[in-house]
Amino acid sequence: MNIVDIILKKRNDEALSKEEIDFFVQGYTEGIIPDYQISSLLMAIYFQKMTREETAYLTESMMNSGQLVNLTKIDGIKVDKHSTGGVGDKTTIALGAMVAACGVPVAKMSGRGLGHTGGTIDKLESIPGFSVELSIDEFIKNVNNIKIAVMGQTNDLAPADKKLYSLRDVTGTVDNISLIASSIMSKKLAAGADAILLDVKTGNGAFMKDLDSSFELGKEMVSIGNKMNRDTIAIVTDMDQPLGLAIGNSLEVKEAVETLRGNGPQDFTELCETLGAYMLLLAQKVLTVEEGREKIQESVKSGEALRVFKVFISSQGGDVKYINNTDLLPKSNYVYVLRASETGFISQIKAMDVGVAASHLGAGRETKDSIVDLSVGVVLDKKVGDLAEKGEVLAYIHYNDEIKRDLAVEKLVAAFKITKEKPITRPLIYGIVHDKGIEKNK
Ligand code: URA
Repeated sequence: MNIVDIILKKRNDEALSKEEIDFFVQGYTEGIIPDYQISSLLMAIYFQKMTREETAYLTESMMNSGQLVNLTKIDGIKVDKHSTGGVGDKTTIALGAMVAACGVPVAKMSGRGLGHTGGTIDKLESIPGFSVELSIDEFIKNVNNIKIAVMGQTNDLAPADKKLYSLRDVTGTVDNISLIASSIMSKKLAAGADAILLDVKTGNGAFMKDLDSSFELGKEMVSIGNKMNRDTIAIVTDMDQPLGLAIGNSLEVKEAVETLRGNGPQDFTELCETLGAYMLLLAQKVLTVEEGREKIQESVKSGEALRVFKVFISSQGGDVKYINNTDLLPKSNYVYVLRASETGFISQIKAMDVGVAASHLGAGRETKDSIVDLSVGVVLDKKVGDLAEKGEVLAYIHYNDEIKRDLAVEKLVAAFKITKEKPITRPLIYGIVHDKGIEKNK
């Protein structure tokens, strides 16, 4: 087999065989095939696309390029949740504890953030002492004992994806549905869960900006998951404005803890309840989504979700006094108040711009070696649909450096659109994709 023939075949819009896909994935991972040839192949895939069958082969090949985590020693049905990435997306932090409190094992391998979206690990590390450096044995023991553990993704999990993703990032080949679906699913499948819930974000701050391609991505991933014998559901949810109010590591932990106390922002609470209900359904703990939602709500009302969260934090070295009093979490030195320059309705808060603003402040990574400032970020005081009088607060900018603050202010001003007419607000949940098809919300 020859890589030039494979490139030509794809360039000429022919489907690649399983053997050809394995050949280029293995050859590239082992460093035998150079970047320039794989770049060319990726661009051919980008334009000619892949069939569903080719996408499944690519997923399997990347999944098999490294370690396959064996979670069979964990009792019960393990359900993994994955978000395609968003601004202010602290869902795993609150949702993990809610679902664990309902008796479903949560064995979560997470990554760090890059670009305008933050990573769960960075957020959790704003709790002093907390560490994700667990061995697989400790990880399994913790999930069995307290129903939840979070560990950093090992370097050996789908290493082919790691290499290919870095190359896609610099060759203009990220936003192709087959490449995104296979990238995400190869890691989810290698991480060993029995069932997978995918939160596919849609809108300005998401990979997929429009609804049709978001449902298409959901369909592709559900098809891969089910083909690999994992019950898989995708929920398409809004990421046009940031999720909740807080964006930035310790600020998001604070909001997640407030949500576990029952005092979270309405959209974030609603998202946790919906995703939680589907996780309980996938784990066969409930028979209906409504029953699942009630159980999740009860886990918060009874205080059990917060109790489980504290045990989880302390089992991984975190100091629970920062959860009991979240005002002790890392705090920026200064806060700048952004006010409305005119009276009107907030008709847009572009998630991408807010994410970039938080990243300018130091909350995110511009390169993979950047050091994250855990204390900085943005806290919104308005959401889309709210009325703002001239001079009213739109957002608080938590910062440590004036130059960075100025960059963030510029981005945030551009993020807000104020109009005289009340806007039609977008729904939070657009619909569900499962093995029987797509159910779009009315
Ligand atoms: N997240 C991934 O892991 N891979 C992609 O290709 C896009 C988002």
